Amino acid sequence: MQSKSSKKANAQPKTSTRGSLARKVGALIDGKKALVGVIGMGYVGLPLALEFCRSGFRVLGFDTDQTKVDALNAGRSYIGHIPSEKVKSFSGEGRFSATSDFSRLAEPDCITVCVPTPLNEQKEPDLKYVAQTASDIGKTLRRGQLVILESTTYPGTTEELVLPMLDRNRLSVGRDFFVAYSPEREDPGNRKFPIEKIPKVVGGVTADCGGLADKLYSKIFQRVVRVSSPRAAEMTKLLENIFRCVNIALVNELKMLSERMEIDIWEVIEAASTKPFGFMPFYPGPGLGGHCIPIDPFYLSWKAKEYDFHTRFIELAGELNTAAPYHVVQRITEALNARKKTLSGSRILILGVAYKPDVDDMRESPAIKIIELLLERSASVYYNDPHIPKFPKLRKGDFRLKSAELTAEFLKSVDCAVIVTNHSGYDYDHIVKHSKLVVDTRNATRNVKNGRSKIIKA
Ligand SMILES: NC(=O)c1ccc[n+]([C@@H]2O[C@H](COP(=O)([O-])OP(=O)(O)OC[C@H]3O[C@@H](n4cnc5c(N)ncnc54)[C@H](O)[C@@H]3O)[C@@H](O)[C@H]2O)c1
Repeated sequence: MQSKSSKKANAQPKTSTRGSLARKVGALIDGKKALVGVIGMGYVGLPLALEFCRSGFRVLGFDTDQTKVDALNAGRSYIGHIPSEKVKSFSGEGRFSATSDFSRLAEPDCITVCVPTPLNEQKEPDLKYVAQTASDIGKTLRRGQLVILESTTYPGTTEELVLPMLDRNRLSVGRDFFVAYSPEREDPGNRKFPIEKIPKVVGGVTADCGGLADKLYSKIFQRVVRVSSPRAAEMTKLLENIFRCVNIALVNELKMLSERMEIDIWEVIEAASTKPFGFMPFYPGPGLGGHCIPIDPFYLSWKAKEYDFHTRFIELAGELNTAAPYHVVQRITEALNARKKTLSGSRILILGVAYKPDVDDMRESPAIKIIELLLERSASVYYNDPHIPKFPKLRKGDFRLKSAELTAEFLKSVDCAVIVTNHSGYDYDHIVKHSKLVVDTRNATRNVKNGRSKIIKA
């Protein structure tokens, strides 16, 4: 069976899974008899693994973190928006288990790789997790295995880094084993776009590689979109995230100008959004956050240098977005100043430290930078986040903070409450009512009727 998309695919040769081994693997996938291995049981890997289970596959999850493996095998999810019951029911049915024993990588017929791809201190791609995983797979690679890289990375990674580590033991790609790249587009916690409704882009090293990856994903995704190569698929993901990064930078710059011109940028975006074509709203904020938008563009700018190419849009957007938390602190300082207060010695409450609403993930959250800047300027900092009861230890230090309760007394006791993340559970009327000053970086207080003079947008 072919997915709808592969019929439409124009770039990759139309015949899929032609070789006899490819046909065998295809039959295993079609009959849902293939064992699926998912490497990296994080925000991407775990939901993907559970989705394969839901569609009827048996899944073996791999992770280097033994505590995660133990939790999963005990039926516990450690990710807020993924219910433990789901993990428990699939492991109870014998359809899901996890392991940190990488010698078991010979067992799965299909392997998807969802390990981290961060930046190092110099903002250069850090591919050590991908390289380690490719080396692990290479050690046990056997005929008939399909390996798909899902981690976000620069064009060329699959063919230049992963493939050479697999292409061993006289096994040949496209004939004995199969390799593809397919970017992960999951938006954790987004109920409007559950994983299966987000079209899945796939690029195989050969036509059979692409055909098998297409076949596998079409079992869980409603639409699979084939492109001609892993490089095209890798670039697709980067284009999507660079598009967002650049547009967020643009709107952040226009926000700063609008503040000087005494225009409300939020009102402007709302009005512009009524244009039925040629405009798409992006919203300003306190800085980029999360594991993707602040990081992925730099994968491309790094790779571009190999081609004597300078990605100016990415650099400029990076500069503007890096400045955003500084701008928020500047606005807090000015707002306190207008009330004859200095930032030094003031009690500042940060509302929301997760990088986006209603998740418990604070990777690269702009709140971290804002807190750092406030502490450097001798403010006393407190925070509240219903999803993050204790501020975790960070690479750069330990703030030793615990989420404060938002009682009327506590709100009255702080000099300024700063809305960094607009969690839907917040009672903004209550916050504004009891605070002396509210700096709102998300336009979260737009529907608050009383006390508007206490609100400063930033
Ligand atoms: N989180 C998102 O919203 C999102 C969206 C799209 C794409 N991505 C991309 O997906 C990839 C994974 O991101 P994530 O958010 O799931 O990361 P994560 O940190 O939540 O999960 C990664 C997991 O991999 C494990 N791991 C690390 N090294 C390993 C190794 N060598 N072998 C096996 N497991 C290992 C970690 O212990 C962790 O559990 C990244 O490339 C990211 O850019 C993430």
